[in-house]
Amino acid sequence: MSHAEDHEGTRRDFLYYATAGAGAVTAGAAIWPLVNQMNPSADVQAMSSIRVDVSGVEVGTQISVKFLGKPVFIRRRTPEEIEEARAVELSDLPDPEARNPNDPQSNALDQNRTLDEAGEWLVMIGVCTHLGCVPLGDGAGDFHGWFCPCHGSHYDSAGRIRKGPAPENLHIPIAEFVDETTIKLG
Ligand code: FES
Repeated sequence: MSHAEDHEGTRRDFLYYATAGAGAVTAGAAIWPLVNQMNPSADVQAMSSIRVDVSGVEVGTQISVKFLGKPVFIRRRTPEEIEEARAVELSDLPDPEARNPNDPQSNALDQNRTLDEAGEWLVMIGVCTHLGCVPLGDGAGDFHGWFCPCHGSHYDSAGRIRKGPAPENLHIPIAEFVDETTIKLG
């Protein structure tokens, strides 16, 4: 191999690795927020509060994050889900308590369980109040909210128990918006 060819080969190798390296960094940056939310490190789990970026949560979808060892559902509700939940009378609810430590004196009317006044954002601990399974979401069950298949508990679109053995509405964690797209848990 001549000196010139040797030099050429080295340069090609350098370019290849530089490009591969840049690609890896870009992918890492894109994946990090998701990994960070879905699977926080032991350090994060031990922290008493976390911040969740909800800028990517579309209307009619939810994300699940782990906080203090439990799943927390963050759902951005549709107008239909809000309307259905707000049409329910307190007397129709097996558990009339809000289960909301952000508003401890309140009852389980829908407006006392959501994070914002418009009722778009519902944040709940994703643990069935019967024996602790994680309910299925996205409009599941007879009341278009969550359904726990373990023993058949149906929660409505505000996460309130409506049918089945669970005694309480899904609990709500301490939560607040700290800016337009960030929810702080704890
Ligand atoms: S644990 Fe959910 S219904 Fe029993």
